[in-house]
Amino acid sequence: MAVSLPGALLARWCLVRLRRGEPAGGASNSSGSTPRAGPEGGRGARRSMASVELRQVRKQYGQTSVIHGVDVGVRDGEFAVLVGPSGCGKSTLLRMIAGLEEISSGEILIGDRVVNRVPPKDRDIAMVFQNYALYPHMSVFDNMAFSLRLAGRPREDIQRRVEEAARVLGLGEYLQRYPRQLSGGQRQRVAMGRAIVRAPQVFLFDEPLSNLDARLRVQMRTEIRELHQRLRTTSVYVTHDQIEAMTMADRIVVMNLGRVEQSGAPLELYDEPANVFVAGFIGSPAMNFLPARLRRTPDGVEAVLGDALGLPLEGCELPDGSALTLGVRPEHFVIGSGAGLPAQVLGVEPTGADTQIFCRVCGTPVTVISRERHRFEPGGMIRLTPLPGKTYLFDAAGGQRIPTRDPRRG
Ligand SMILES: Nc1ncnc2c1ncn2[C@@H]1O[C@H](COP(=O)(O)OP(=O)(O)OP(=O)(O)O)[C@@H](O)[C@H]1O
Ligand SMILES: [Mg+2]
Repeated sequence: MAVSLPGALLARWCLVRLRRGEPAGGASNSSGSTPRAGPEGGRGARRSMASVELRQVRKQYGQTSVIHGVDVGVRDGEFAVLVGPSGCGKSTLLRMIAGLEEISSGEILIGDRVVNRVPPKDRDIAMVFQNYALYPHMSVFDNMAFSLRLAGRPREDIQRRVEEAARVLGLGEYLQRYPRQLSGGQRQRVAMGRAIVRAPQVFLFDEPLSNLDARLRVQMRTEIRELHQRLRTTSVYVTHDQIEAMTMADRIVVMNLGRVEQSGAPLELYDEPANVFVAGFIGSPAMNFLPARLRRTPDGVEAVLGDALGLPLEGCELPDGSALTLGVRPEHFVIGSGAGLPAQVLGVEPTGADTQIFCRVCGTPVTVISRERHRFEPGGMIRLTPLPGKTYLFDAAGGQRIPTRDPRRG
């Protein structure tokens, strides 16, 4: 059922339009489950892009506070991904940028304009939702043409834009169908097409791929990314899937419980997580966390795991006996039989390219990834040594990363 989406074509199409210097179009918001469109955002103007900035944005529903002072800056042309667990406030934040939710306090800027009081239709944004938000009683063509018609664009222009979008999205044969006659993937493409025909200043995506099957999801994320690389339209993309965030983002904003935990380039977050939450959220399989204790000896400082292993540390200011959490990524263990942490093998899963080994270390479950094809038996004992310079230390109480240097790194 998965129709292939010719992303290169889509990008080329958009590029051609940009080269022609076509107008920005009636980019407007498709609010909630009933898409709306507004007046022409920039008729006669070349497409302009815009930054998006949130300053100390808060949201309360009655007495319940769900967004607690968020600062986020998305640069002009950037593809930013808001990622975090369910209920952390991603959709709320996106809907506040769109103007579909009022903000309780703070400021939202699109470009250099504070839009707190600007209605959604005048924000020059287009939003793509998880639930597609298509008009059930309208054909695919009419769904895609809707905002352009409201914007009063000439008939031939609408025809051309919709047909071009439909062709590159692989929807050419479906223009006269109704949403109920389409698969989930096809409906999602209609929703994408409806946003694309408007050529807005900012795209907002709320989990647009989560109703698609795994293969189509991977394909669509590449296509969206490719499209963005050509168009460079500022985009804010919400997902709870950290792989989607890692593969698509110029910058990831990790949220938790209505706050931003950290923001940065994907590999920056992977290599330098600010706290346990980010360390555990970014990366799959997740980072392993082992309870440890700081020990000061005449020779220096070390993190001690159980009675088994002391990892030398430098630059750690905490007092002797402090409770720590040691973080080690699954790919950062050396497997041996002599020195190292004793680990009981619970299971082994070869995936072809590498092998995942599930163990128990000092009572804690640990996942190890190895490029070698080990044939350990469940119940067997192995030894694990974290790679020098690849461990992370966190304050066990607050979860904040403790800056240290591993002297084994040399
Ligand atoms: N209208 C509302 N009234 C009260 N609380 C609300 C309302 N809308 C959302 N919330 C609460 O705000 C919090 C954030 O919700 P939001 O939909 O932004 O989460 P999310 O990160 O998008 O989650 P998901 O990944 O499940 O979509 C949740 O705790 C939710 O229950
Ligand atoms: Mg949501």
